[in-house]
Amino acid sequence: MSANILVTGGAGFIGSNFVLGERSRKNRIVNLDLLTYAGNLLNLSDLSGDPDHIFVQGDIGDRALVRKLLSDYQPEAVVNFAAESHVDRSIDSPESFIQTNIVGAFHLLEEALSFWKGLAADRRARFRFLHVSTDEVYGSLGPEDPAFTEKTPYAPNSPYSASKAASDHLVRAYYHTFGLPTMITNCSNNYGPRQFPEKLTPLTVLNAIEGHPLPVYGDGQNIRDWLFVDDHCEALRVVLAKGEAGKTYNIGGSCEKTNIEIVNTLCSLLDEMAPRSVCAPYSSLITFVKDRPGHDRRYAVDCSRIERELGWRPGETFESGMRKTIRWYLDNTHWVQSVKSGAYRDWIARQYGAAEENSAALAPQSIVGKLQSAT
Ligand code: NAD
Ligand code: TYD
Repeated sequence: MSANILVTGGAGFIGSNFVLGERSRKNRIVNLDLLTYAGNLLNLSDLSGDPDHIFVQGDIGDRALVRKLLSDYQPEAVVNFAAESHVDRSIDSPESFIQTNIVGAFHLLEEALSFWKGLAADRRARFRFLHVSTDEVYGSLGPEDPAFTEKTPYAPNSPYSASKAASDHLVRAYYHTFGLPTMITNCSNNYGPRQFPEKLTPLTVLNAIEGHPLPVYGDGQNIRDWLFVDDHCEALRVVLAKGEAGKTYNIGGSCEKTNIEIVNTLCSLLDEMAPRSVCAPYSSLITFVKDRPGHDRRYAVDCSRIERELGWRPGETFESGMRKTIRWYLDNTHWVQSVKSGAYRDWIARQYGAAEENSAALAPQSIVGKLQSAT
């Protein structure tokens, strides 16, 4: 039987991949997204004219709107992707992170609770509120530390991870205090199609093909665990279908890589998939730049609970996932051009130090400037 889900943040990177997958499974989606700089309706263009994808532009913190959507569409689940999601932006200007990730999540929870209380007993028993969160809430690991489990104490270090941790605590409290059947997933770094090019993977691919420098923070030895976005979406489906209310599930790729390994892998794949006309490999564009303040050294995720209890495992290998990702960015030039708006260029200029407003994204000179100021 097809399901009926209220998705928030479904025009962003992971949310849009999730929505596309749900529609291919015939589930009806009400998609509430504010369309911030990170939300993009082009991500959902395959669904244009689809009557079972109902897109609503709005804020998860707009209680009246959320109440109306819940009442009109009577979903069996809410999946909350909506968030401000970029660590560097949270360092630059944290306020919107507090507003959406904490206050917005609180309003969404309140409305979900009141809707859930009004359901008949059988629907109340089936209802789920799935909160999509991050492994960054657990803080930073040393080189020999064991991977994060669901029992690892929270120790967020950036305004982004602190705001996600706060919302996780609220979601947990709404289960324990009010009985709202919530579940939380804490996932590692995703990569794949439709990721906004402020994040490492798409930034590297797009800069490389345009011949711009490839900025690597600090010594490039920070470690992240990487997961292909469709594998994350499949894990969320499995948690929705079989997860236990009140529980947390860690999700990851069991694929720890240093940042410099990621950038080098992308460069070698690009050398093969889109060879440069100049006689130098893409890796010659790698440029070490000033480190991110408070930069977490290592994340690693222990996924044994979701594997053991729900039978989920990633389907893609690192190489197959990275190949699919690069292919998508090479093939979707229209999408790439559309996201490189003035706002994007302004961010790149601010973050990577380009002097002139609206200058070309990551002009080589600007990176060199940042490199020199870092040393
Ligand atoms: P994203 O930034 O690409 O997308 C976020 C979406 O939320 C955008 O479409 C944006 O318009 C929307 N949004 C922002 N504020 C909103 C508001 N107030 N009301 C409604 N919509 C709003 O983010 P993403 O990478 O797709 O991440 C989705 C979720 O997954 C986030 O909660 C993030 O914390 C979590 N997560 C991301 C990763 C990752 O590697 N990207 C890993 C683990 C967890
Ligand atoms: P990012 O994609 O921003 O994800 P997160 O901060 O949520 O892990 O960054 C991934 C890693 O790559 C992180 O250690 C920071 C690093 N990084 C760079 O080295 N250069 C860059 O230009 C960016 C955006 C990130």
